[in-house]
Amino acid sequence: MRVMLTGGAGYIGSHTAAALAARGHQVVIFDNFANAERDVPARLERLTGQKMPVIEADIRDVPAVVAALREYPVDAVIHFAALKAVGESEADPLLYYDMNIIGTIRLLQAMQQAGVARIVFSSSATVYGQPDSSPILEDFPTRVENIYGRTKLVMEDLIRDLARTGKLAAAANLRYFNPVGAHPSALIGETPRGVPNNLMPYVTQVATGARPHLNVFGNDYATPDGTGVRDYIHVVDLAEAHALALEHIVANNVSITVNLGTGEGTSVLQLVQAFETATGRKIPLVIAPRRPGDVSSYYANPALAEATFGWRAKLNVEDMCRDSWRWQASRAGINDV
Ligand code: NAD
Ligand code: UD1
Repeated sequence: MRVMLTGGAGYIGSHTAAALAARGHQVVIFDNFANAERDVPARLERLTGQKMPVIEADIRDVPAVVAALREYPVDAVIHFAALKAVGESEADPLLYYDMNIIGTIRLLQAMQQAGVARIVFSSSATVYGQPDSSPILEDFPTRVENIYGRTKLVMEDLIRDLARTGKLAAAANLRYFNPVGAHPSALIGETPRGVPNNLMPYVTQVATGARPHLNVFGNDYATPDGTGVRDYIHVVDLAEAHALALEHIVANNVSITVNLGTGEGTSVLQLVQAFETATGRKIPLVIAPRRPGDVSSYYANPALAEATFGWRAKLNVEDMCRDSWRWQASRAGINDV
């Protein structure tokens, strides 16, 4: 297939581009580079041997999207382009409604004009809010706890509506748990701007010496060691899931909503321990107050993904730590991996 990736130069998009190329698909990257490095397409070409066309434009620019879809021509879209910072979404809700919700509506309009009716969408476990229990199944209630989460849920609903009314032939809403790691080649990875909000990028920056210690946000949660528990998933596994989900919905003309996680909960202290084991680097810790808005524990039941399109995560937390570090070390010019 020829697949257009909105946000294809970003963290998860670039890994999915590599996974699609490895399965023989042709990739078209559509990205405004608001949160991506310019050299990602060249790195992807080195990694995959495929020269991927790049359209530098905004998904809200309907004529630009229509032109891109018609030019190649495109069989399906994987839609990553979005803003994704919870704190920023609470500070500027209209910005998030515009980029994420209006952006998705414009993209869907362009797809309809160009006759492209298959989409895979980047959703998030954030749609479950504070779940009553874990492991989380897809039919658990959804709950909006912040603006970012609201935009994800609205975008999912738009896509489900269009699938239900026959405007989309095939759609997948993929609910990611906590994506971490990088391609083992260290050619692509995550480059957060400013101080990282998320745990793994922060840990890797402590390991390079860029930050003095990790603040552990709370050690009094009702979890085995008191620190927050998450379902970390290697971005290479996540990328593979996009390729399999796409092939499944296109082959069967169906629409699905599926969790993508490992099914394993890992605490902050367990992740730090795994990082130290995988990399030989010591991570100094300071116990800090809980971060407002944090959930104590959540992890996926990923059985539906396996039953539906035969995917399950293969990489473990030490693989995630090793590959995150390999990427961060190469960026920092450290050669011990
Ligand atoms: P990212 O910021 O690395 O990638 C997003 C890409 O989209 C960037 O390359 C950016 O330049 C581009 N982009 C943003 N707005 C655009 C616009 N209006 N037009 C064109 N391009 C635009 O983020 P990511 O971590 O790769 O996340 C990808 C998707 O997955 C997002 O929708 C995000 O909400 C979702 N998601 C991410 C996580 C996570 O932890 N990283 C978890 C759950 C869901
Ligand atoms: C965050 C987002 C969530 C998003 C997810 C995607 C918030 C409130 N939630 O969730 O919407 O879908 O990222 O990756 O921003 N921690 C520390 N010290 C740190 C950083 C994190 O102890 O410096 C702890 C947190 O308290 C949590 C765990 O590490 O227990 C994971 O945090 P993080 O990586 O930010 O992910 P989420 O909290 O799941």
